[in-house]
Amino acid sequence: MSNAVEQSEVLSSSELVSVLKAAAEPTRLRILVLLRSGELNVKDLMQILKQSQPRLSRHLKLLHEAGLVERFREGSWVYFRLSEEARFEDLASRLTGAVDPSDSLISRDRERLNALKQDREKSAQTYFEAHAGEWDRIRALHVAETDVEAAMLKALKGVTLDVLIDLGTGTGRTLELFADRYERAVGFDVNQSMLAYARAKISQAGLDKAQVRHGDIYNLGLPTEEADAVVMHQVMHFLSDAAGALAEAGRILKPGGHLLMVDFAPHQVEFLRDAHAHERLGFSTGQIAEWMRGSGLELTKTVELAPADAGTDRLTVMLWLATKPVVTHENNATENLAIENKEFLEGI
Ligand SMILES: C[S@@+](CC[C@H](N)C(=O)[O-])C[C@H]1O[C@@H](n2cnc3c(N)ncnc32)[C@H](O)[C@@H]1O
Repeated sequence: MSNAVEQSEVLSSSELVSVLKAAAEPTRLRILVLLRSGELNVKDLMQILKQSQPRLSRHLKLLHEAGLVERFREGSWVYFRLSEEARFEDLASRLTGAVDPSDSLISRDRERLNALKQDREKSAQTYFEAHAGEWDRIRALHVAETDVEAAMLKALKGVTLDVLIDLGTGTGRTLELFADRYERAVGFDVNQSMLAYARAKISQAGLDKAQVRHGDIYNLGLPTEEADAVVMHQVMHFLSDAAGALAEAGRILKPGGHLLMVDFAPHQVEFLRDAHAHERLGFSTGQIAEWMRGSGLELTKTVELAPADAGTDRLTVMLWLATKPVVTHENNATENLAIENKEFLEGI
């Protein structure tokens, strides 16, 4: 290992002391444990920890200054996540990993976090129940549908699409768009009203290789490495756990398979949260790349489609294409060697 790599992975003694001091306080430790499950904003933390905003802001400031936590703004909300810098990430994961998950405070926090996420998903589902009939109009509000769909077809041109999985299929338009490319396609959605429209569309269009299923993006119940391609079109910004959804997409993809995600670039159109149940105000390519890496995927292509009349509330649509790397013989050999070394050392 080179000196440069070693340097980037360790902390100076003063940094380590400030990290340990920052973590050595009950509320701050609970915040770190909560952030292991994904990004949260102060409002979320207030609801879970039942503490005032000024108090939590002080704790978050200390964690941020120590390097354990990163902050980023999205519209008028500020989100926090565990640092993605290797040396802080490693330490945060060791510290939080040492906490007993059955500890009463920790398990209560986890229950409150799960309840919060379920509430969010419920309000998105109420929205879709009310708007299922007009979704095909809403989906084209920002960039012309023809442009987005042409870019989607181009992104997946020439790649194997025998088994296509469409996550959050809604009214099933993606199944129709790629109909002449797949041998079998399944669209998953949790919303029965949306699925009713998708079923009607599939039957009217005579798509006999496509079907839709009631299912949850976070737990699809599909075998591992089942899909040649997974598509998520305008789904991520409704989810309370985007990283969890990507992990499940990565799991069901075959090695060499592709994930095509279509969603919005970061924006400030705050009213979309209330009026259209948007959980997130778009995503940066850096954030998407990081989540993809965490799910064993590599971001290979980014396409930006700006709205024709910028300056209004119309948003830029992004396409992110990722592949699941094929594990080569050489990679395997290195992994096997690492396992053998570990077993050898454990045997000593
Ligand atoms: C904005 S619509 C997009 C529909 C379709 N992909 C399209 O582009 O027309 C998002 C869809 O994701 C679905 N959805 C949200 N959360 C989900 C989850 N946890 N599991 C499955 N589907 C979900 C919603 O019910 C909704 O139909």
